[in-house]
This record gives sequence, structure tokens and C-alpha cells, in this order.
Amino acid sequence: MGRNVVLGVCGSIAAYKSAEIVRELRKNGWTVKVVMTAAARQFITPLTLSTLSGNPVYCEMFSPDAHSRPREDHIALSEFADVILVAPATASIIGKAACGICDDLLTCTILASGCGVVFAPAMNDRMWKNGIVRANVEKLEESGCLFVGPEEGELASGKTGTGRLAATGKIVAAAESMADSHKGRDKKKC
Ligand SMILES: Cc1cc2nc3c(=O)[nH]c(=O)nc-3n(C[C@H](O)[C@H](O)[C@H](O)COP(=O)(O)O)c2cc1C
Repeated sequence: MGRNVVLGVCGSIAAYKSAEIVRELRKNGWTVKVVMTAAARQFITPLTLSTLSGNPVYCEMFSPDAHSRPREDHIALSEFADVILVAPATASIIGKAACGICDDLLTCTILASGCGVVFAPAMNDRMWKNGIVRANVEKLEESGCLFVGPEEGELASGKTGTGRLAATGKIVAAAESMADSHKGRDKKKC
């Protein structure tokens, strides 16, 4: 049976690794629709991820024609998804999701979803240790979201710490397990 994932890509230096995640998901039989934040598009192009996913990449909340609904809005994307995987997840998206802020397509899709949500954070180790980030992670975990990583290792700054995006295999396995644990639930009702 086909499985559907919405992959949310955020504005982290690790955004280039989302290309590998898309390839791995497709290799494992997933249909992948990518949603990119505006900051993510500073790091990797939608063209790369649309080519690898075989689907359009979704970026904008509003259609260029203000009077027509976009063909696939946040509701359609949330109903499509058996799981939402946010990789890499920034401190900002974690904070917005924890607070119910919906100011772009990705945050709206997450909030509208009835499926499981998996976050794979990547950030500087001091950001990851920050008490506000810790509280936001705890809040999301309490509401059923799953976190995979970050891992300890060399960071973009050249220093070593906890903040590296988890390995692709671990991220994909976490998305699979989250989708399995939500199987059979009515995505539109939960
Ligand atoms: C070079 C550079 C690298 C960044 N890397 C990260 C990162 O790894 N993790 C993170 O949380 N923020 C990182 N940021 C900051 C985010 O891009 C910024 O908070 C942005 O608003 C996130 O938006 P988004 O969550 O909507 O994608 C980085 C910024 C720059 C300029």
C-alpha cells in the first residue's frame, strides 16, 4: 500500500540533506510532497526537491491570484499525509508549532493535520540547549509529536556539540514508525 509523506524543509544549514531524505523515502515506496519555508529556499532550491520527489514543491500559502484557492492548500496537504516529517526542523518551526502559530504553509499544514508529526531538529548546540527550545520540544512531545535527533558531532561552526541532523536512515525509520502507529485512524477526525 502506498504511503504519503509531507516533508517540511526549514531554513537550516542542514537543508541540503533533505535531498537525501527525499531519495530514501522514495526508495522505500513513499509518495513525497515537499513543503519549503521561505528560509529553506535560501539554502536549497525547490527545483532540486521537485525533481527528486517527482511532485511540485509547495511554498506559498496564497495563490498568486488572490481570488482563487491554491490547488493544494494546507488542508489538502494535511489530508494527503500519513505522516508529516519536518527535516531539518529549526528552533523557529519548533517554537511556532508548540505555540500554534500558523504564519506560513508549513505551520498551517502541521496544525491542520490529524496524522503523526515527526521533527528532526538541526541547530547550533546552544540553541538546542536553550530553555525555551527545551520547553517547546517537551510541549510537542506531550502532544504526541516524535523527535529524532539531533545527534552529537561536528556542527556547521566547526565545533562539536549536540545539534547535527540525525542520520537519514534514522529519520526515515522514525517517520515509518509514526505512520504505522497512526494507521487505521481517520486522518480527518483525529
Ligand atoms: C547560515 C545560516 C544557518 C542557519 N542554520 C540554522 C539551523 O541549523 N537551525 C536553526 O534552527 N536555525 C538556523 N538558522 C536560522 C533560521 O534560518 C531562521 O531562524 C529562520 O527564520 C528559520 O525559518 P523557518 O523555520 O521558517 O525555516 C540559520 C541561519 C543562517 C543565516
